[in-house]
Amino acid sequence: MTEGGADTARWVAAEKAHCWHPFTQMRDWCAPESEPLLLVSGQGALLRDAQGRDYIDGNSSIWTNLHGHRHPRIDAALRDQLDLVAHTSFLGFTHPPAAELAQELVALWPGGTLNRVFFSDDGSTAMEAALKMVAQYWQMRGEPERREFVAFSNAYHGDTMGASSLGGIAGFHGRFSAWQFPATHLPDLSGLDALDPAKVAAVVIEPLVQGAAGIRLWPPGMLRELRQWCDRHGVLLIADEVMTGFGRTGTLFACEREGVAPDFLVLAKGLTGGYLPLAATLTTERVFEAFLGGPERTLYYGHSYTANQLGCAAALANLAIFREEKVLDRLQPKIRLMGELLGALRSQGFVREVRQCGFISGIELSREDGTPFAPERFTGARVCQRARHYGLLTRPIRDVVVFMPPYCISEEQLHSAVNALSRAIEEGCV
Ligand SMILES: Cc1ncc(COP(=O)(O)O)c(C=O)c1O
Repeated sequence: MTEGGADTARWVAAEKAHCWHPFTQMRDWCAPESEPLLLVSGQGALLRDAQGRDYIDGNSSIWTNLHGHRHPRIDAALRDQLDLVAHTSFLGFTHPPAAELAQELVALWPGGTLNRVFFSDDGSTAMEAALKMVAQYWQMRGEPERREFVAFSNAYHGDTMGASSLGGIAGFHGRFSAWQFPATHLPDLSGLDALDPAKVAAVVIEPLVQGAAGIRLWPPGMLRELRQWCDRHGVLLIADEVMTGFGRTGTLFACEREGVAPDFLVLAKGLTGGYLPLAATLTTERVFEAFLGGPERTLYYGHSYTANQLGCAAALANLAIFREEKVLDRLQPKIRLMGELLGALRSQGFVREVRQCGFISGIELSREDGTPFAPERFTGARVCQRARHYGLLTRPIRDVVVFMPPYCISEEQLHSAVNALSRAIEEGCV
């Protein structure tokens, strides 16, 4: 890939003529005045555009990247794997990277908790797998009346029909409600009392913090309390750690913070360090055993690229980096620095609230009197556009600017990223 202006016009023309982007109003994207950013390379926490300009990857390439771009260890693991084979079917065959990865993933949990790994491609498909497992599990256990899925208001669990049934963001999912299965959405744990627990199949939660809701933090202890409720009533607990997994909250998994082991753990995004689409649904031996028997007990679910060998090799390298580079230890001072730097934004006009959980943060913007901006003003998007001008890439969720850079970001880069945010807020909010 070359860098340079000459090709940029050709790429932009081809892209505007033929690409369709997720979550994007394509009329605006394709408008003559819109200038899509063409990213051509990366190094560490930086991404470079076709003009050779560098930007800090302030949302870790949509919350996926952990150790930076072109990490030598993951790059080498992928090259080594390419010398063997890129992909083979996991349907009817197996391979060493998947076997090793499954073993390493379950070893991250206390013995006897999560012991089985079902691979898929992304957060949505890993959620979908969990939902089908839950549904079939209760049928096979002879409790078909346990059909109800419980999720939380403003939740986000992906965009396949099943996963989106549990989503609580009307703007994303409401239009498809006629095709989704009914799910109960609770604002918090107080709603549990109104349920008939004997009908509940599973509760699903983004532990500690809801991402797409706008980086909303759950109260401390809430996850533990939910686990206790599930235990009391024999209900399965699904922890969606697609965003929070692999160190984002400061511990390897968010569930660790409250000493909780779920019945299903859903992992994606950071599993490969942000390199390749690979996801995993972990569950207990108890659930797995219910599926053993004749053909009618088989889980008929899967995808062509399940357990892709390159993805598994990248994931193994990702886990080795955590072990060998003491990633979590080295992250703690950066979490504190992020808190200090963002803390200074609190006193800035237009900043309603700064929320942080580990290395995840969201800056909620409002008018100076604390009331929300009119939605049609797209203030969050404007601020992110201005931040780009100052060398920082990130995306808003409505008027919450998300900031969650790769863990490898230097202190100096953290300072310049927050400076960029501060200037962008000042300019984008007026
Ligand atoms: C908590 C959570 N679950 C599931 C998903 C869906 O993952 P994917 O986009 O990989 O399908 C996301 C995506 O942002 C997420 O944040």
